[in-house]
Amino acid sequence: RDGHLAIVAVNRPSKLNALDNLTIEQLDGVIVDLEGDDAVGAIIVTGKGDKAFVAGADITVLAKQGVLDGKDNARKGQALMSRIENCKKPVLAAVNGFALGGGLELALSCDVRFASDNAKLGLPEVSLGIIPGYGGTQRLPRLVGSGVALQLILQGDPVDAQEALRIGLVNGVFPQAELLDQVKAIANRMVSRGPTALALAKQAVRRGAHMSMQDGLELEADLFGIISSTDEMKEGMTAFLEKRKPGWLRK
Ligand code: COA
Repeated sequence: RDGHLAIVAVNRPSKLNALDNLTIEQLDGVIVDLEGDDAVGAIIVTGKGDKAFVAGADITVLAKQGVLDGKDNARKGQALMSRIENCKKPVLAAVNGFALGGGLELALSCDVRFASDNAKLGLPEVSLGIIPGYGGTQRLPRLVGSGVALQLILQGDPVDAQEALRIGLVNGVFPQAELLDQVKAIANRMVSRGPTALALAKQAVRRGAHMSMQDGLELEADLFGIISSTDEMKEGMTAFLEKRKPGWLRK
């Protein structure tokens, strides 16, 4: 914890933070706990050590799977990524090194991504004779466009941090030693905003992505109506008119 921030670090550095079943379960539980914790305003996901964010799903687990447990493994990974995507609080990825396969899929499920200058990001699954299974085939094209995504998925080679920035895969690149502090500063700017507004704005974008323009605008108007009935709105508007900082109702 750091003030209103929760920093979640995948902690298997000897395996470059590869996601085995236990790590996926634990991450899932941590996100549930943090989402329900009123003291937490935003969540930062990162990896332990200076080499890897997450170097993928654990290949020793994948190597043993057949049709049914393969599908089951994909579903469990997908459920974690969807939980992060739908979390009411902003989730920021601090990509501090390799973000490959399930690692990139983890970063893709976060709201924004920042990379260290030594990071390498990619979906190398086809080089292992499999396809991305934790949402990569769906989230990557939605983020960077299908042409760029298909090249990354079909070629299987990672890109460096600067190329990731160029294609819109990450929002910013920082020297590795500064990455976490920079991401914390960005997260704290978000946390300084209205907490209900953050949750509803995220919901509008996330749910709207699966809707027609017309339905998405309807959703936005509904959520705008909801936020207009909150004490939070009154405080935000009053603070502006009284030329003071808003005091949000955060426990
Ligand atoms: N699953 C399981 N173990 C992994 C792993 C993964 N996805 N990625 C790395 N590891 C393990 C290695 O097996 C090694 O374990 P060991 O010390 O017991 O042999 C340890 O982490 C260190 O990795 P190593 O390969 O020695 O580091 P490196 O610096 O030479 O190479 C990578 C780094 C990231 C290029 C390389 O580890 C790699 O290609 N990993 C797999 C990436 C991948 O394909 N991910 C997608 C999976 S779907």
